[in-house]
Amino acid sequence: MKKIILTLAAALIIVSCAVKLVTPTQTDVDRMQAKYPGYTLDELNQGKSMYEQHCAECHKLKNPTKFSEEELQKVVPMMVKKVNKKHPNTLDDNAKDLILKYAITMNGHKK
Ligand code: HEC
Repeated sequence: MKKIILTLAAALIIVSCAVKLVTPTQTDVDRMQAKYPGYTLDELNQGKSMYEQHCAECHKLKNPTKFSEEELQKVVPMMVKKVNKKHPNTLDDNAKDLILKYAITMNGHKK
């Protein structure tokens, strides 16, 4: 019985540590118009779903708010390369662009 409780407690801790990504809104898109003219909520959500789909394979999903924009500019393209190395031709330049824009947009959400 004690073992079961400990296992359940451990499972709960693991679940509660999982990164919960902020849901993008039109406000996030509007904030980025100067930087990314014509950027849409649909593109932002596409970036988010690719991020969730491809970026939690080797490590837990990273929360974009935890990094500076400069770090993201460097690390995201590197990570997209890693995805393509593991699964050739998964992410094209457009996908890379959408993932990077997603990460940088939501990075600004904390302010
Ligand atoms: C093939 C394995 C792999 C995939 C797929 C992958 N990563 Fe990584 N990632 C790593 C490794 C290895 C590191 C360096 C060690 C670490 O911080 O976990 C890293 C580090 C990072 C860091 C920096 C962590 C830090 O603390 O400085 C970020 C941010 C990141 N990854 C984001 C992403 C994103 C975004 C994607 C999807 C495009 C992605 N990763 C996909 C292997 C991967």
